[in-house]
Amino acid sequence: MNAVHPAWLRRVNDEGVVLTRDPGCGLGPEAYTIARAGGVTTVVAADEAGLLYGSFHALRLDADQPASTHRPAAARRMMQHWDNVFVHPVMGQVERGYSGGSLFWEDGALTGDLDRVSDYARLLASTGINAVSVNNVNVHAGEARLLTDRLGEVALLASRFRQYHIRVFLSVSFAAPMTLGGLDTADPCDARVRAWWATATRRVYDVIPDFGGYVVKADSEGQPGPFAYGRTHADGANLLAAVLAPFGGEVYWRAFVYNHRQDWRDRTTDRARAAHDHFVPLDGQFAANVILQVKHGPIDFQTREPVSPVLLAMPATRLAVELQATQEYTGQQRHVCYLPPMWSSVLSTVAARVEAVVTVSNAGEDPYWTGHPLAQANLYAAGRLAWDPALDPLELLDEWIRLTFPAAAAPVLHALMDSSWSVYEQYTAPLGIGFMVKPGDHYGPDVDGYEYSPWGTYHFADRDGVGVDRTVATGTGFTGQYPEPWRSRYESLGTCPDELLLFFHHVPYTHVLHSGRTVIQHIYDTHFAGAEAVAAMVRRWAALSPAVVGADLHDRVGRRLAEQERSSVEWRDQINTYFFRKSGIADAHGRRIH
Ligand code: GCU
Repeated sequence: MNAVHPAWLRRVNDEGVVLTRDPGCGLGPEAYTIARAGGVTTVVAADEAGLLYGSFHALRLDADQPASTHRPAAARRMMQHWDNVFVHPVMGQVERGYSGGSLFWEDGALTGDLDRVSDYARLLASTGINAVSVNNVNVHAGEARLLTDRLGEVALLASRFRQYHIRVFLSVSFAAPMTLGGLDTADPCDARVRAWWATATRRVYDVIPDFGGYVVKADSEGQPGPFAYGRTHADGANLLAAVLAPFGGEVYWRAFVYNHRQDWRDRTTDRARAAHDHFVPLDGQFAANVILQVKHGPIDFQTREPVSPVLLAMPATRLAVELQATQEYTGQQRHVCYLPPMWSSVLSTVAARVEAVVTVSNAGEDPYWTGHPLAQANLYAAGRLAWDPALDPLELLDEWIRLTFPAAAAPVLHALMDSSWSVYEQYTAPLGIGFMVKPGDHYGPDVDGYEYSPWGTYHFADRDGVGVDRTVATGTGFTGQYPEPWRSRYESLGTCPDELLLFFHHVPYTHVLHSGRTVIQHIYDTHFAGAEAVAAMVRRWAALSPAVVGADLHDRVGRRLAEQERSSVEWRDQINTYFFRKSGIADAHGRRIH
């Protein structure tokens, strides 16, 4: 047995923690046993990673505890960054980033502050994250070169992440053999293309021996892919898998493939079906080191979606579920929206079926990491849930509050955050219909913003009703992609859960929900209630003394809450007015609708 004291453990040791690495202890990789008695904590693990996670666990203990053993549910727990090296003219330094600039890149160059990268690595490790991809899945021309002549920068980032047992991945462009290699094709079955990828990959491992592998967005929203050559996504993924395999690398191949040039007049094409239609026929055809990365819902990170049926339908494929901490559709880190209750409900269905949990990061160069200081809780909980999906999201919230704030602030913070996802849902798009956001930046209401667009995200509201008929009986047949019991539950109006009603069905405004209210009255009631709940949050925060949390943080949160209040009123009034004007049905309670 030998005790280790790496630099990252010093602070823990100062607080009375005894760390023992015992390769013969019988614990698997990354696992540890922890106990605390008489104020002294002991951690035993077979490897250094286990000691790392155990030492962070020690920070969470506040009382003596008998020995318990902990091991990650998923071996792969990745944070993915949508960071650009060069500031993109539309998307900026970080695509869908709401936390200032990138932690890694600054205006075309590697960050000058690698110590901040180390701090971030420490933060991620404290939550249990063990992999990170450092550039946007939309790989533009400059970013593609991270794979070749800018590899040294990736190696520097990897040297910081390595200290915390985090492996670095790169997003790569499927067209790289053409754009970087000068070939006239990127056909995955062409020998020259294979040779180019093999050489590029060997060079990566020459400088980053523990490199994780590639993340690929192909044939999606304009990114190149195997379809251009009449090849399948298994052909594409397996090409990269073959060149990574000798080095132990893996491919995260995204299932986010759909037609983004749809004709809105065509009601038979259903974007929700796309991933299943493309990928399920390929089950069993992917190489052993391919992980198919599937967004948790069938559309795109909306406030409420059913679980993607792809995650329930590919037993012979290794799967990753993809979550989005960056709050693209959930208030863009100007609104408080604590997402783990949503993630937990997804994970309760899929955790046993996935090998990896991937989260799109919400962190940036902002001093609070996440723009909105309270959005940190999403970052924290994403890692903790990847480690143990059975953790209670509200207990996790309290854990984060306790580790971050003085006890006097805890009741206010808990009250502000515990149901903030439901509150956000109340004042935005109703009953699972999704979108209704402003096209482009996706912030704020625009009910018809995407209605006549090519993006495949429609609500189909008319004077009589609203919702998308995705049934097998009369609609797009999407419900048929689910196994039982989900298929029947979603197909039938009698059993479809209220909160997903408009995702699956087109119903009259007078349709009566299980709650006993009509759809139109539900829309009015929830929108008034949601905006009122935000006003109450504003009052609660104002009543908390700035001295308790610090004046700067109090002010930052206060200003964002003011914007949330303004925005919630805007949402309430636009949604209520829209549906009042469409339906002509008055509010049963006579409240003012414009
Ligand atoms: C959304 C988002 C894009 C992103 C895409 C993806 O559509 O708006 O910015 O590139 O998801 O997940 O690839």
